Amino acid sequence: MTRASMTDLIHPALDAPLPGASVAPPIFQASTYELPRDARAAEIAAAVAPSACYTRYGSPNAKLAEAMLRDLDGAEAALLVGSGMAAVTVALLSRVRAGDHVVAQTTHYTGALTLLTEQLPRYGVRVTLVEQTDPAALTAAIGPGTAVVYTETPSNPLLALTDLAAVAEAAHRHGAVVITDNTFATPYNTTPLDLGVDLVVQSATKYLNGHSDVTAGVVTGRADLVAEAWEVARVQGPVCHPFEAWLLARGLRTFPLRMARHNASAQAVAEFLAQHPAVSAVHYPGLPDHPQHDLARRQMRGFGGVLSFELRDGLAAATGVLRAARLTRTAVSFGGIETLITHPASLIFAHQSPEQIEAAGISPALLRLAVGLEEPADIIADLAQALPA
Ligand SMILES: Cc1ncc(COP(=O)(O)O)c(C=O)c1O
Repeated sequence: MTRASMTDLIHPALDAPLPGASVAPPIFQASTYELPRDARAAEIAAAVAPSACYTRYGSPNAKLAEAMLRDLDGAEAALLVGSGMAAVTVALLSRVRAGDHVVAQTTHYTGALTLLTEQLPRYGVRVTLVEQTDPAALTAAIGPGTAVVYTETPSNPLLALTDLAAVAEAAHRHGAVVITDNTFATPYNTTPLDLGVDLVVQSATKYLNGHSDVTAGVVTGRADLVAEAWEVARVQGPVCHPFEAWLLARGLRTFPLRMARHNASAQAVAEFLAQHPAVSAVHYPGLPDHPQHDLARRQMRGFGGVLSFELRDGLAAATGVLRAARLTRTAVSFGGIETLITHPASLIFAHQSPEQIEAAGISPALLRLAVGLEEPADIIADLAQALPA
C-alpha cells in the first residue's frame, strides 16, 4: 500500500483547515489575498510557499493537493507545479549549477531527455547517459563531480527498471542527490523515498489525477530540498492553477482504488498479448519473463497500468492495430480511466530525430498501451479483434 490510506486521502492532514464548512473543498479562484495590516503581512510574504498570499507562491487548493501527495509518498513536503515537465525541470534546476555533472539514463520520457541532452548542457552542465538496466555501469558513472543522478523507472515507453536502492547508495557515497521520475509506477506501486531517493518527480497529469482532464506535476522529498525547488518555481513561474489543483485533489481521493484496478487489468492484458501469435514481444514488469522481473518484485508492490508490445509483422501491422481498435482510442498520455494506445516512434518521439529514436531502442513495430478501467474482458476483446489473425 501507499503511505497514505484511503482514510488519509478522504481526510487529508492540512497544516491549517480550509475556511468554510463545505464538505467538498471550495475553489479559491484568486490570484492575490488580502494581508493582515500588521507585521504578519511581511512574514507571510517572505514565507516558503505561503498558502494565501499570491497564487504563483502557493494557493489553498495547491496546499490541499500537496498534503495528499506528500503523504502518498511518505515525504516531508510536496510542491505542486503546472506540469510533469515543470516538476522535472524545477527539481533538476534546483540542484545543478554550471560545471556540475549529471548521470542519467539512455531512455527517459522525451521531454526529460531533451532537457538533459540539449538544454542543460547550454548552461554548462555535463550529462552522461547510461543504460539503466546495468546497475554496475550506472554506479560506475557517478563520481566526485556528480551533483545529480536522474532516473526514471519503469521508463517510458519500454518499461525498463532502474535499481533505485543501488543507485542511491552509490550516489550518496559521492554526495550526489538522486531524483527519480515515478510517474509510471506511482506511489501505489513504489515509494522511492523509502529506497533512498532524495526527490521524486511525477506527472500528476497521469494516474494521480486519473481522468485525462488536468495537466500538473509534483516534486516530493525532504522539506529543505522541496523548498529549494519551490524557490526555482517561484521565480520561473510554472503555476498549477487553483481549478487544476482542485480537480487533482478530487481525482486523488480515488487514486488507490483506481491503481488496484489498473494493475490487475494491465497484468491480464499483458498475459493475453504474450500468448498472441501476432505479437513478438511484450514489455511489462509483471510478466515472469520480463528481464528485470526479480528487481520489479523487490522494488514494486504492483506493476502499473502501462505496457508496450511489438508486432511480429512490423510497422504495417502496428498501424493496422491502431486503425482497427474500436474501444481503445489513439492518443498520447496515459493514467486516465480510458484505454489509450499510441505509436511511440511517430507520436511520442515526434520531436526527436530518426537517429535518436533508434538510439532509444524504439522499434517502428512498437505500440504503447495504457490499460484503462473498462471491463478487462472488453479491453482484451477489442485488442483480439484489432490484432492480425
Ligand atoms: C514518465 C513521464 N514523466 C514526465 C512526463 C511529463 O509530464 P507532463 O506531460 O505532465 O508535463 C511524462 C509525460 O508523458 C511522462 O510520461
